[in-house]
Amino acid sequence: MKILYAKDADTLSRYAADRFVEQIKSNPKSILGLATGSTPKKMYEYLGEDTHVGKVSFSEATSFNLDEYVGLAADHPASYHYFMEEYFFSKVDFKEGANSLPNGVAENLEKEALDYDQRIQDVGELDILILGIGSNAHIGFNEPDDVFEPLTHVVALDHSTRQDNARFFNSIDEVPTHAISLGMRAIMRAKKVLLLAFGENKAEAIRDLVKGKVDPKVPASILQLHANATILIDEGAASLLDESDYTSI
Ligand code: F6R
Repeated sequence: MKILYAKDADTLSRYAADRFVEQIKSNPKSILGLATGSTPKKMYEYLGEDTHVGKVSFSEATSFNLDEYVGLAADHPASYHYFMEEYFFSKVDFKEGANSLPNGVAENLEKEALDYDQRIQDVGELDILILGIGSNAHIGFNEPDDVFEPLTHVVALDHSTRQDNARFFNSIDEVPTHAISLGMRAIMRAKKVLLLAFGENKAEAIRDLVKGKVDPKVPASILQLHANATILIDEGAASLLDESDYTSI
């Protein structure tokens, strides 16, 4: 695991966007793994600008998102379908049908989760995957647990996750209680993983990821075993680490 530090989130977002540009240049048909939330927004903005000026094109790429809330249809403003459309898909040049997210309103959610997993297995590995991290160290919505869940699955969200995400809703009561999340197998099989973490709210999770042992109670810690994972942290997220734990960019 490589741990890279920059004081500000913008530098790290630009760095991550550059890795996506590099990836698409080396293989325009790349399969991208995508996250939602506050953290990757700036990276998506940079990729939108890069597309606009002709520096990169997503026209041959495809993507799979990590997760979706159960019970929110694609047109719900707090759904991850909506988020992706608003902040990324509408700003770049993917072809119609190139982007996949789990369907949070599928009639049979368990089947939807397994079908989604199968679709990823059928196309092979994700070439590059961007992750955020929860304050409880979740990645995707793999919440702290006794085991690492390998396949895409329906998950009950931790109270802390629902609290953290209440800012996207009118109140915590509106935050869905469940989500469909990619499991650890697809995450660990991704050829390249970039995890962005911004702010002091992520400092404990980052300390446990970097300095703790591999433990399903700290879901992100599984990345210690990944062959090509880069953790990108700003000043706040790095605040419980020593300077010797990371390299500045
Ligand atoms: C989102 C996802 C989550 C978020 C995490 C951090 O698709 O999978 O793991 O990355 O909850 O969210 P933010 O970036 O809003 O702090």
